[in-house]
Amino acid sequence: MRIAVLYSRVRVEEKWIFEGLEKRNIPYDRIDDRQVVLNLADPGDWEQYDVVIERSLSFKSGLYITQVLNAWGIPTVNMAHVAATCGDKLSTSIALQQANIPQPKVWITFTPQAGLQTIEDIGYPVVLKPVVGSWGRLLSKINDRDAAETVLEHKDTLGGVQHSVFYIQEYVKKPSRDIRTFVIGDRTVCAIYRRSEHWITNTARGGKAEVCPVTPELDRLSVAAAKAVGGGVIAVDILEDEERGYLVNEVNHTMEFHSTVPLTGVDIPGLIVEYALMAARQRDQIEAPAVP
Ligand SMILES: Nc1ncnc2c1ncn2[C@@H]1O[C@H](COP(=O)(O)OP(=O)(O)O)[C@@H](O)[C@H]1O
Ligand SMILES: [Mg+2]
Repeated sequence: MRIAVLYSRVRVEEKWIFEGLEKRNIPYDRIDDRQVVLNLADPGDWEQYDVVIERSLSFKSGLYITQVLNAWGIPTVNMAHVAATCGDKLSTSIALQQANIPQPKVWITFTPQAGLQTIEDIGYPVVLKPVVGSWGRLLSKINDRDAAETVLEHKDTLGGVQHSVFYIQEYVKKPSRDIRTFVIGDRTVCAIYRRSEHWITNTARGGKAEVCPVTPELDRLSVAAAKAVGGGVIAVDILEDEERGYLVNEVNHTMEFHSTVPLTGVDIPGLIVEYALMAARQRDQIEAPAVP
């Protein structure tokens, strides 16, 4: 058994995963994604790995590297098709919709004019997001027409390709927190509230983590959401709506857990290692669906 951990920067999370492998005496290599060169016709040294744990900071690098590895028959945690779905908010919403998982209402438009018309029809406030992104970056809560016109014009003039797709969500009047659950395989291993006075509750934006009990309902919803995107090691963002209850806001495939582990006492990196070992053992049974 030999494992590789693909990383961009060794953060606490990666350090803990290395320790988890060392504790279990599993031989492994650390691979810096900036150094990776893949010859499609020749797996070369990669062939020695039974599984690769992907921890890239770059969505694209992680996605493309795992895509090639999966094509060679090397399982990855997570699989490339899971990264493709989770890394794109529209793909995630489609997967959730198909699995009948409750989520905030979503609209997609492709021009500022259609965007403005849609926002006017929905009514204010609405949330506009880049389809690819994380840490709460470049999200806009649009409270009125003036703001809508300004944000759409800025995106149209200054934005790159990514900003020509307008992913619009209803604004969910959540309490001053959201919920993040951690699913590994078929189990929700822990959950946190992220509390903030700001409407964006990401811990990267100052949200404070608190323990959230994993009720059977939260477990069922989180596991279903993880399954909808292809499963593996998954973090699910959930909003609490007064009337409709839990709504799955987004699903993440390379989550951080430096505040969650000391808070909950759950050994997430250890469980990731165990999950990767299981994926390696089931290597022959893993069939990688094509990345959409
Ligand atoms: N539609 C929404 N209604 C209310 N709050 C939202 C909505 N969308 C996002 N948020 C808040 O912003 C945070 C970040 O949004 P998210 O879609 O998870 O983007 P990111 O990928 O940047 O984390 C969420 O955790 C939540 O607190
Ligand atoms: Mg999020």
